[in-house]
Amino acid sequence: MSGAMNRTYRIAVIDDESESLASICRALKKVGYDISSFEDGVAALQSLEAFQDIDLVVTDLKMPRVDGIDLLRKVREVNREAGFLIVTGHGTVETAVEALKAGADDYILKPLDLFELRDRVHQILEKRQPGNELRFLRRQMAAGRGTSPIIGKSPAIQRLLEQIATVAPTRSTVLLLGESGTGKDLAAQTIHANSPRSQENFLPLNCAALSPSLLESELFGHEKGSFTGALERRLGKLELADRGTLFLDEIGEMPLDMQVKLLRFLETREIMRVGGTSTVTLDVRLIAATNRELARAVEQQKFRMDLYYRLKVVTLIMPPLRERTEDIPLLVWHFLASFAEEHQRPALEVAPEAMQALVQYSWPGNVRELRNLIENLVIFSKQPSLHLSDLPPEVREAPPTGGAEGPPPPRLFEDLNMSAIEKQAIVQALEKTGGNRLKAAQMLGIGLRTLQTKLKDYGMTER
Ligand SMILES: Nc1ncnc2c1ncn2[C@@H]1O[C@H](COP(=O)(O)OP(=O)(O)OP(=O)(O)O)[C@@H](O)[C@H]1O
Ligand SMILES: [Mg+2]
Repeated sequence: MSGAMNRTYRIAVIDDESESLASICRALKKVGYDISSFEDGVAALQSLEAFQDIDLVVTDLKMPRVDGIDLLRKVREVNREAGFLIVTGHGTVETAVEALKAGADDYILKPLDLFELRDRVHQILEKRQPGNELRFLRRQMAAGRGTSPIIGKSPAIQRLLEQIATVAPTRSTVLLLGESGTGKDLAAQTIHANSPRSQENFLPLNCAALSPSLLESELFGHEKGSFTGALERRLGKLELADRGTLFLDEIGEMPLDMQVKLLRFLETREIMRVGGTSTVTLDVRLIAATNRELARAVEQQKFRMDLYYRLKVVTLIMPPLRERTEDIPLLVWHFLASFAEEHQRPALEVAPEAMQALVQYSWPGNVRELRNLIENLVIFSKQPSLHLSDLPPEVREAPPTGGAEGPPPPRLFEDLNMSAIEKQAIVQALEKTGGNRLKAAQMLGIGLRTLQTKLKDYGMTER
C-alpha cells in the first residue's frame, strides 16, 4: 500500500468475541499493519489516550455497556482523523446505517470475509490518509496536467476538482448530485479516467430508460432459458464492468426491488445472474448520479434509506451554472474554439454586450444548453464576431440572474466619476477573465494597447 512507504499504519481492533478479535488481528497483521487490540469497548475507553495515535479503528458494533457508536464518539474527541470501520452481525443493517450517520467510514457484515476486510481497511486508509499516489494525482490535477476536461475556475468547480482527485484513486462508491446538464456524466468519466481502473471498462447504464425486468437482466445478466426469449447466457453490465467502473445514471428512478438487489451487491460484492444458481464475485467501482432530490425520495419511501446511506458516503455536488457565472466566459471561449475546429469555421470573437447577456442568463439547461447554443452560433454565424442580436431572445432579454424574486439589483455605480467607472470596469473584466488582458480588452470592447495604456495611467500595472 502506498502509505506504507512512510510509516506503518496503526489500527485498533475492538471486539468482545475473542475468536473474532483474534482472526481480525491476524488478518491485518499479516499485511503489515501495526495492531492494538481491546477485548471490548470498556477496555478501549480505559486506554483512550492511546487512540490519539491511531489511523483506523475496526470495531464490533454490538458490545455490552460501550457499543461501537459510543466508542466512535469518544475516540473522535481525542482523534478527529481516525477512520472507522464498523463490524456488524446480520440483521443489524439499520444500526449500521446509524453508524454511518454518526460518522463511520464504512461497515462490514459478519461472518467476515477477511479479504473483504483488508480491502475496506485499505480503502479507508487511502481515503483518509492521502498516500503517495493520491498526492501525486492531486498535484497533477491542480497544475492542470491531469486528465480533467472539466472547465471552470469558480471556487465551486475548483473544490469539485479537488474532491474528484481525492476519491478517484480509491474504490469508494460515489454519488453525483446535480441538475440536468451540470456535468455529472463528465465527472463520472473523469473519476474513472483518474483511477487505477482507467484501462478497464467504464460502462454507463441509465436506470430510467428500461423496464424493471429488463433493467434486472441488464444489470445482473441472465442464464440461458431463464425467461422466454433468453436464448443464451448473457452477461450483465456489472459483470462486464468487472475491474472497471459502472456508472448508474438516474439512480433515483431505479425500482425498489432492484434497489434491494443493488444494495446486496454493494454489501457482498457478489451477484447471481437471473435464473442462475451460483454467485459470481466482482470487483466493480460504482458511480451513481441523479438530478432528483434523493433525500426527498427517501422520505417518500420511493428510495431505500439503507441504499441511500450506502451510496452517499462520498457525495459530489455539481453546482448549477447560474451559481458560478464567472465560469461562463471560460466555457464560451472553450466551446467557441472547439466547435470552430470541429466544423472548420473561423473562431468567433464575442462583443462585450453579447458576453454580458450570456453571463446574465440563468441557463436552466446548464452547461449543455450553453454548449448547444455555441455550437449553433458557430455553424450559422456569418460575421466574424457574435453580437447581442445573434443570441436567441430568451438569452438576449434575460434579467440579471436572480430574476424578479431575487434581491433588488445593486446600484451599478456608487461613484459617478467617469474614470472611477472605467477603473471598476477594467477590474471586473480582469477578474472575469482570470487576469487575461487580451480577453479583458475584448470584453471591454477596446484594443489591447488601449487597455495597457489605461492600466498604466491608473497605476494598475501590478496585477
Ligand atoms: N465544467 C464543464 N466543462 C466543460 N464541459 C462541460 C462541463 N460541464 C458539462 N460540460 C458539457 O456539457 C454537456 C452536458 O454535461 P453532462 O452530460 O455531463 O451533464 P449531466 O449532468 O450528466 O446531465 P443529465 O442530468 O441531463 O444527464 C456535456 O457535453 C459536457 O461535456
Ligand atoms: Mg447525464
